[in-house]
Amino acid sequence: MPNFNPDDVLGEVLIDEETLSARVRALGKRISADYADKNLHLVCILRGGVVFLTDLMRAIDTQHTIDFMAVSSYGVGARESSGQVRLTMDLKEDISGRDVILVEDIIDSGNTLANVLEILATRNPASLTVCTLLDKVERREVDIDLTYVGFQIPDKFVVGYGLDVDEYMRNLPYIGVVKDGAFITE
Ligand code: IMP
Ligand code: MG
Repeated sequence: MPNFNPDDVLGEVLIDEETLSARVRALGKRISADYADKNLHLVCILRGGVVFLTDLMRAIDTQHTIDFMAVSSYGVGARESSGQVRLTMDLKEDISGRDVILVEDIIDSGNTLANVLEILATRNPASLTVCTLLDKVERREVDIDLTYVGFQIPDKFVVGYGLDVDEYMRNLPYIGVVKDGAFITE
């Protein structure tokens, strides 16, 4: 059991529940219109994207399928990714001929996403776009085209709605800022 007091970890609320929910519904509406005649397949990157995915898919009223993959990045530490990612869990299904939207929690340097897009592009999807809940645009190191973005946020470490601090607090229903230097140990 981790022994921590959430008040020591959490700073201000950055995006509250209602704001999140309204934005996710708006994204779902746009995707529904854009993919009305397509073979839509949502690919969620575990684990951070899972809360966003489950709300987003219920806001999409065009028929679609879902799948999951997990990656880990080589290196730097729990809060920063390196240039390279390794697939730790691949998709169950082939994506060739499908209109894939990659569903992500947050784009920071963009390294994770760039690597995943490269892997998926080799599998001949009919189309491949990105839907991210959060975009830390100041931190970008690689140029990637983000078709659907929930919110652009400042360069702060955030938690909740699927995003973790040291694997905890993914269950917060809102996005909060982690206090400088806060961490959680077992
Ligand atoms: P990137 O490869 O630098 O774009 O890092 C993306 C990944 O880092 C995300 O999928 C998250 O898992 C993690 N990450 C980046 N910023 C945050 C944050 O503020 N809170 C929680 N996780 C984050
Ligand atoms: Mg992630």
